[in-house]
Amino acid sequence: MKILAVAGSNSETSINKLLVSYAASLIENAEVEIVDMNDFEMPIYKHQREVESGVPQEAKNLAEKIDAADILLVSLSEHNGTYSTAFKNVFDWTSRIKDRAVWNKKPMLLMATAPGGRGGLGVLEAAEKRFPLHGGNIIDTFTLPFFNDNFDRENNKISNIEKSSELQEKLNKISAVEIILENSI
Ligand SMILES: Cc1cc2nc3c(=O)[nH]c(=O)nc-3n(C[C@H](O)[C@H](O)[C@H](O)COP(=O)(O)O)c2cc1C
Repeated sequence: MKILAVAGSNSETSINKLLVSYAASLIENAEVEIVDMNDFEMPIYKHQREVESGVPQEAKNLAEKIDAADILLVSLSEHNGTYSTAFKNVFDWTSRIKDRAVWNKKPMLLMATAPGGRGGLGVLEAAEKRFPLHGGNIIDTFTLPFFNDNFDRENNKISNIEKSSELQEKLNKISAVEIILENSI
């Protein structure tokens, strides 16, 4: 099973990258690739840029990785209640590739975390509403509030027992969806 773990952040110390990497490590027998928005850094979307030069290769690279994956784990950082600029730019460019939907119907666990008590609920809700219009097949969502209290950086895992079992349950659910899809082919 191929998993693409996407951190919707370009921070070198991204907590969403820590979370999505941890989540990916919990899925057994998986081939995991972890990416963040630094892997797809492009000029800010501009109509004239697209007309003159087309969609940059970096956006096509992300699309290829999505197409090659069986499952998507996506964890978004929240800036002012919504997507980080870095993620939104990658999302915008990728949405301009002709004849394909950004998330290509791949089963997705949509996640967010933040240092505060809402755990990135604003960006999660924005994405939950919007992604289905771009081929998003959101099987479930997960937020981790108070990241610094609920994630043990030393041992690289969620320390809150309830949140840890909630995540495992949701990962089991998305893995089961993928197994059903695989068997139906
Ligand atoms: C410009 C900016 C805006 C932010 N806005 C929010 C916000 O609306 N809600 C929130 O919970 N955290 C907010 N934060 C804090 C981020 O959640 C925090 O920086 C977090 O580490 C971002 O995730 P990342 O480390 O994966 O990039 C903001 C941070 C910045 C720099």
